[in-house]
Amino acid sequence: MWLHIWLVLSIASLHTESSGLTSEEISKFSVSGKYEATVTVDQSNSEYFLIAASGIPDHPWENVNPNTPTNQNYNIKIRKTPEVSPTKACVPFGKIGLTRTGVAIYNPLAGGSVNAVQGDSAETFDSCDGHTSPDGSYHYHKIPDSCLYNNTVDELIGVAFDGFPIYGPNVSDISDRWITSADLDKCHGREVNGQYRYHVTEQWPYFLGCYHGTVYADVVTVTYDCDLNSNDWDAWTYYLCECPENGGGGGGLPPPIECRPDNPNRPANCPDGPQQPDTNNVNDQSGDGNSGCRLGVNLMIVIFIVLISFQAF
Ligand SMILES: *[C@@H]1O[C@H](CO)[C@@H](O)[C@H](O)[C@H]1NC(C)=O
Ligand SMILES: *[C@@H]1O[C@H](CO)[C@@H](O)[C@H](O)[C@H]1NC(C)=O
Repeated sequence: MWLHIWLVLSIASLHTESSGLTSEEISKFSVSGKYEATVTVDQSNSEYFLIAASGIPDHPWENVNPNTPTNQNYNIKIRKTPEVSPTKACVPFGKIGLTRTGVAIYNPLAGGSVNAVQGDSAETFDSCDGHTSPDGSYHYHKIPDSCLYNNTVDELIGVAFDGFPIYGPNVSDISDRWITSADLDKCHGREVNGQYRYHVTEQWPYFLGCYHGTVYADVVTVTYDCDLNSNDWDAWTYYLCECPENGGGGGGLPPPIECRPDNPNRPANCPDGPQQPDTNNVNDQSGDGNSGCRLGVNLMIVIFIVLISFQAF
């Protein structure tokens, strides 16, 4: 009996469905009609929304680099019912979501895996907080609060490619300040009225730290599952979860897996950090960090018990 209950509970907790974009949120996807900005959300498929957009902003832009925004013909599938996945995935380089105006949201890194927004490696943005890649895709790495975000309460900014909405930092449950990264889980989100959502903040990693849900493989390639329980993840100030293509962490560091404290051949240029497994999880501000691991272990135990019971009969 206890096994049955446990089994049911374990399996139920493996895939927590959350609501994706609501019709109210979808109605916010629109453009002013200026320039060549377009955005539409096709809801006809039963499994996904198809967001079509030119990727050109509906606000002015300036040449802060040699590149010019061009029509990107985005046709992006995002799940209607995103699943809060047991394993969190790294946000890839480049596009990780779209604004409500159909413009690309990028991860926090510039080429060379350095912080694109703050510090010595900060890139130049135009007066509307964006800039253009060599391929013509205009994008934001940080809060677009000059020409897009209006700083109204609970304002939708856009959607991440795993289907969870992205909200601004002005929230109804905190009245005297903008929400900060310290208020959010490691993926940079939280649950509000049963719906998981990300928030953009003024602090690293600005938009997303990792994907809490799953993305369609033909939209972006997710190269690495985050081990949120790893010391390195904290030591790298959440640099592990923007894994560049070769699996390395921020700043040209070796692949996270090689930097595990228990690797006898741990490369010398791994970041300094606590060398003992962080079992107390003191740095976990959200309480969210370990769930993936616990679920994984739980599933393994369940499978093990199921196998054993089959053998018994
Ligand atoms: C934000 O402000 C602009 C300019 O005042 C306005 O055109 C736009 O409708 C506003 N958008 C939202 C979502 O409030
Ligand atoms: C949030 O938005 C409201 C209304 O748009 C504004 O009055 C308030 O000052 C904003 N809060 C912050 C912290 O900026």
